[in-house]
Amino acid sequence: MQEFEEFSTLLQRPVEEKNREFQRQGRLKHMISASQLSIPLLEKLCHSANVIRKMSREPKGNERLRKLLAHKRAMLYFTQPSTRTFLSFMAACQILGLTCNEVRDPKTSSEVKRESRMDSIRMFSSYFDVIIMRSQIADFAECCAYLMNDLEKQERRSVPIINAGVGSDEHPTQALLDMYTIIRTFDFDESSESRPSRLADLRRSYPNLASGPAHKTYAFVGDIGRGRTVRSLATVLAQYDGVKMFFISPDHEVLQLDDSLRQSLKKSGVVVEEFNSLETDYQGQSLLSQIDCLYMTRIQREHNSEQAEKEIAAIDLEPYRLTSDRVAQLKSYTPILHPFPRDSVIGEIPTEIDSDPRAMYFRQARNGMWARAALLVHLFDAADSLHLAYSEVMPA
Ligand code: NCD
Repeated sequence: MQEFEEFSTLLQRPVEEKNREFQRQGRLKHMISASQLSIPLLEKLCHSANVIRKMSREPKGNERLRKLLAHKRAMLYFTQPSTRTFLSFMAACQILGLTCNEVRDPKTSSEVKRESRMDSIRMFSSYFDVIIMRSQIADFAECCAYLMNDLEKQERRSVPIINAGVGSDEHPTQALLDMYTIIRTFDFDESSESRPSRLADLRRSYPNLASGPAHKTYAFVGDIGRGRTVRSLATVLAQYDGVKMFFISPDHEVLQLDDSLRQSLKKSGVVVEEFNSLETDYQGQSLLSQIDCLYMTRIQREHNSEQAEKEIAAIDLEPYRLTSDRVAQLKSYTPILHPFPRDSVIGEIPTEIDSDPRAMYFRQARNGMWARAALLVHLFDAADSLHLAYSEVMPA
């Protein structure tokens, strides 16, 4: 894109080099890419998310949370449709006392007067303390982070940028809440709050099941090629030991796992297997019975070209839908996740699955609020104040 021309050399660098510029003294400065979510950082954020979640149950806890970032203002710049990400960021801001404002339709901003996007961002940074953005324009959030870094070098005002879903590649805060959900599901620490009866049941039925995200099989189903949530979550999970990933999608080039992700996962030591149906066998047993965590996605029709629209319309999507029979083949603990929205016409997860205890997608969405609040606390370096408040107001 013409507007981002000045950043083109920066954009082409290896990810490790870029990520160094998005952090400061071991803390995130901007949240741009899922590859920034290292295991130690995830542990910190999940711990803060737990603290925020527990405090928000108590009136005194709530009151303290609302004071934590009451001196900060957030801009929600969402020019691509969004319900969950937008509302959960707004709720996260409200929990922490941040004031927020929004621009959702660029027609209501000075972009109609031919203001450049970069000027708009710089203006937002004059009024707000963090910019949370969603856009279909690839690399937009990353370029905004470079703009902020340049301003900082010139000793001008600069604020953190949060990528809330940009282009088709990255959705790091969705990966964060997905990981928070996975970590909570596989938290078998006796001292934590996981229900003791559930723990005892699991230990009895699955003596070899390890605690935490490592040594597990993750299955991703649906639009693997265009799902930015799949790409971001798989990138984060690849850091753990002994991870196996099944990708189950129709045999169509835009829907299948793309080669860059396939290669980068294999390079990280992930065992990658690809299938064309949920009803299949793997190493002599039903595929469904071997999954520890199931991640469903919808077919992203809005990205179809005219030709893809015709080709995809002709594909039978039944092998990528859950049914009660298929769910019955899953292990008793396997969480069913979905970033949502689900497609009510295709019905990749029919509503009859919602009452199954393994259906975690509504809790997963709620976890987004705690995980995003934890991210804001981290970006504003308020984790110590959060933990102090917890020890002061929460009963021991
Ligand atoms: C996803 C997205 O926008 O990438 N939604 C979300 O943020 N929960 C997935 C989707 O739109 O299918």
